[in-house]
Amino acid sequence: MSFPPGFLHAPLYFSPPEQATLIEAVSEGLARAPFFQPTMPRTGAPLSVVMSNFGPLGWVTDRVGGYRYQDRHPVTGAPWPDMPPILLDLWDQVTDWPDRPEACLINWYRAEAQDGKGARMGYHVDNDERDLNAPVVSVSLGDPALYRIGGPERGGQTSGIKLMSGDVVVLAGKARRCHHAVTKVYYGQSALVPKGGRINLTMRVVGTPD
Ligand code: SIN
Ligand code: FE2
Repeated sequence: MSFPPGFLHAPLYFSPPEQATLIEAVSEGLARAPFFQPTMPRTGAPLSVVMSNFGPLGWVTDRVGGYRYQDRHPVTGAPWPDMPPILLDLWDQVTDWPDRPEACLINWYRAEAQDGKGARMGYHVDNDERDLNAPVVSVSLGDPALYRIGGPERGGQTSGIKLMSGDVVVLAGKARRCHHAVTKVYYGQSALVPKGGRINLTMRVVGTPD
């Protein structure tokens, strides 16, 4: 199995000083929009990551409302902090998409999550956006992770790649509709993230309804 067309991995796209700048921007954002605990639709089971967002829209999920985008933090009710310019610059550099992303998810993977088993992310397709042709751009910060991507159907063969701090992944073209997961995080290897673990920033174009 090879990587689907449209999958791009840019190793160490951000230098260590740039990674520190990104973490600073994340910390400033979190001061206004603290991490919240997302929960699964229907069951209400907690995801193993905690989340926040930058941008006019943020992705949230809970038992009653399900997966969705909204312009307010689910706990504080405040608007999300602005998208840091360094992330919009990244978008412009690695995509040729005419629109800019309205949402940037901040996912924090912690060693303490899941009763000490550590946070991971199960297989899913990003499909809560209106136009699934717009690329998704993500940045890895902190501890390394094993990222796997398969095909459009759940349960097929997958390919794995180790994502290091500063790496950028773009899901465009066919890869945009492919299942992907973070099956393992190599905790305790990086000192970049305050309180440890891995932070993933994921930018998405949400689109407005017709
Ligand atoms: C995701 O696909 O939602 C997260 C990807 C990552 O953490 O690298
Ligand atoms: Fe995803």
